[in-house]
Amino acid sequence: MNKRNILITGGAGFIGSHAIRLFVNKYPDDHIINFDLLTYAGNLENLRDVDAKSNYSFVKGDIMSEAEVEKAFSDFDISHVIHFAAESHVDRSITDPLAFLRTNILGTVNLMQVAKKHWRENGNHCFYNISTDEVYGSLGDTGLFLESTSYDPQSPYSASKASSDHFVRAYANTYGFPVKISNCSNNYGPNQFPEKLLPLMIHNILNKRPLPVYGDGTNIRDWLYVVDHVEAIENIFSNGRLGETYNIGGDNEIKNIDLVRSLCRLMDEELGREVGESEKLITFVKDRPGHDKRYAIDASKIKNELGWTPRYTVDEGLKSTIQWYLSNKDWLEHVTSRKYQEYYKEQYGA
Ligand code: NAD
Ligand code: TYD
Repeated sequence: MNKRNILITGGAGFIGSHAIRLFVNKYPDDHIINFDLLTYAGNLENLRDVDAKSNYSFVKGDIMSEAEVEKAFSDFDISHVIHFAAESHVDRSITDPLAFLRTNILGTVNLMQVAKKHWRENGNHCFYNISTDEVYGSLGDTGLFLESTSYDPQSPYSASKASSDHFVRAYANTYGFPVKISNCSNNYGPNQFPEKLLPLMIHNILNKRPLPVYGDGTNIRDWLYVVDHVEAIENIFSNGRLGETYNIGGDNEIKNIDLVRSLCRLMDEELGREVGESEKLITFVKDRPGHDKRYAIDASKIKNELGWTPRYTVDEGLKSTIQWYLSNKDWLEHVTSRKYQEYYKEQYGA
């Protein structure tokens, strides 16, 4: 096989950093180029263990900049793209929707424009868009999201991701551009920025701060350990068919309040606190505007076609996530401290 130069955007973020680690280790003969702007959510500390590998390069760049993307394509002769870079938090999209429109829609189209210019027909190229199950909207008490479910995004975040998926399919249809898409459920695991539910709760439990549960806590998400997600991505990248979409999920529907209670119990055990101590921190707060009620994925296509199934149960995934945060309190402190953010800005100009 010819050597591949794989551009992974957003590789300093949560899921992207796990993907970089998997690809760098699994494909020593390929070159993995991490293209990341290092926003508040991107952190090169996530990649310390792969930093020195000879088949890995980091480029600080903005997916919205034609010149910066163009330079990366020319410098590294990019043959494949796996596109993670995004604004990823629903609550932020409610306060600043334009940032989501710019990064998630304009950024994706800009990347494809540059790739289209560089890539030859039949050149074994692939543009793989990493997307979310939130594009399908919100479910009632029953039903699952299938690949054929109509898009019905309800938040500015999911609207921007849905739009990027539409552009990706439009490029395939109009220009014969080689694409793949996957839509995954909620991820959790090491390196997740403590604005998302689980790391935020872990951070607050450690610091004995209130645990804000939105509304009555009965909203349901389908949880998947991040390592399972990046293994599914690697499988789709290697074996999935061009032009196809694959849903990825863990068959782990859990109400927010039940998940937070389980986390409290596990954290009490780990921290040697009295059972029930952390649960006392749970505080029901005003609901998120337009809060989607339930997400649930039917992952039978990827299971039947590509043989992927998740390896981690929620219990195993939660325990290993908690262990990671407890062993990496400095990471949590760094990403939440303003001082560190300033230092980081000086170091990396981000
Ligand atoms: P994240 O917020 O942790 O990381 C995003 C990364 O993108 C950061 O490293 C950031 O620096 C980078 N970035 C942001 N704007 C950029 C720009 N203009 N140019 C270059 N880099 C930029 O996100 P995540 O949770 O790892 O999500 C990664 C992808 O997976 C996103 O596309 C998201 O929509 C999708 N996804 C996430 C989940 C989830 O549960 N987190 C589930 C399904 C799909
Ligand atoms: P989140 O991690 O933001 O992911 P998403 O909104 O993309 O699913 O939130 C997961 C669920 O947890 C969602 O139903 C909102 C809820 N939530 C809280 O109850 N409290 C919080 O502090 C946060 C961040 C989320």
